[in-house]
Amino acid sequence: MNTYLLASDAAMVELLRSTVQSLSLTVKSSLVREPRKSLLPLVKNLEPGILLVCSSQSQLTEDLKVLESMTWSNPQVSVILISEADSKEDLVLAMRSGVREVVASPPSQDELIAALRRVMTHCQKTQGQGDAYVGHGQILAFISCKGGCGATFLATNMAYLMADQFNRRCAFIDLDLQYGDASYYLSHDENKNNISDLTQQIDRLDAQLLSSCMQSISPRLNLLAAPDEPGVALAITANQLEQVLTLANRMHEFVVLDLDSTIDAVTLKALDMADVVYLVIEGSLPVARNAKRIVKLFRSLGYGDEKLRLVVNKYQSDELLDVPTIEQAVGLKVHRTIPNQVQAVTEAFNLGKPLELLHPQNGVLKALREMTSVLLHAPLPKPRGWIDRLIGKAA
Ligand SMILES: Nc1ncnc2c1ncn2[C@@H]1O[C@H](COP(=O)(O)OP(=O)(O)OP(=O)(O)O)[C@@H](O)[C@H]1O
Ligand SMILES: [Mg+2]
Repeated sequence: MNTYLLASDAAMVELLRSTVQSLSLTVKSSLVREPRKSLLPLVKNLEPGILLVCSSQSQLTEDLKVLESMTWSNPQVSVILISEADSKEDLVLAMRSGVREVVASPPSQDELIAALRRVMTHCQKTQGQGDAYVGHGQILAFISCKGGCGATFLATNMAYLMADQFNRRCAFIDLDLQYGDASYYLSHDENKNNISDLTQQIDRLDAQLLSSCMQSISPRLNLLAAPDEPGVALAITANQLEQVLTLANRMHEFVVLDLDSTIDAVTLKALDMADVVYLVIEGSLPVARNAKRIVKLFRSLGYGDEKLRLVVNKYQSDELLDVPTIEQAVGLKVHRTIPNQVQAVTEAFNLGKPLELLHPQNGVLKALREMTSVLLHAPLPKPRGWIDRLIGKAA
């Protein structure tokens, strides 16, 4: 593992060098910081590794600002700060800036070794999140154009299909923060943690923390539930959500969001970050009118029509409003219709199971599979026997 040493004087460089080498770490660069010189140019473009940096009391505030933006843009660099700062406030500030460890100055070799070992264990754990996807996934958002159109049902069941049948690593995040019920569509297990457990300790956010707050629904599907108290949801900010989504996106090929239909700052952030937005409606004029308003708003926000996909749920062919009439009323092409299947859908919800596990041949699933195959540019999965479905074997 690489290390970068920014020391206060030559003796400190030597101490740091001999310490990291005693742990078989590579010294990628080492230098003595000039007093009052900004840290910024020294921490640019670092490769993944550990940065050990000395900061004097007078430079601490400035240095922490630089470290905050560095750890945010380059989270694969872990920072050990060596500083005279020992007040609780300074330590909290340092941790908030993304610093992993603070060692009191002047440090002893034992203290440095202990801090380095903790950081190395942390790095190994986050790298060893095994199948952790380190790339840039796609974010899919589902929003109901009027309450009850079926956005949550479609989002949860499509995420399940993507993971289980199309073999994609997915995260489902319930962003209906006040009254989210997505977890009930996938499981009846109690959620121990939810998104507010993450946002309340956002300064510690990393792959390990995110994984520990998610519930594993199936081998490739993790769920981050909505808070269980509506009041807690109010404290979640757009900025916090951005951090959670950015990380989830690095760890999963697809991040599926169930949004609240009230468009506030948090929902807007999610919409901005989404690659595709599924607008879920039912075939009725009041819903179509609402959808028209939402489409107008989205266009005014600069979202192109290629980002928006209009889905007509609970559709019946004898519907008074046919597809051309709906398209005209909303001002957007219909991407997909999904049939009305009250009995099967209600049974799945009551049992807290994805429809795939109960009625894999149901017309709703056929439509959702086709929608997923279009999204992924992937062929439809081959039908599976019931044993394969039960053990979650991908097609
Ligand atoms: N294709 C379908 N056929 C029959 N019933 C459906 C279908 N899709 C969803 N439903 C039912 O519609 C109801 C509302 O679904 P859901 O909770 O997914 O809607 P929503 O748009 O997320 O609502 P909310 O605005 O309250 O979050 C549920 O009872 C669900 O079982
Ligand atoms: Mg919902």
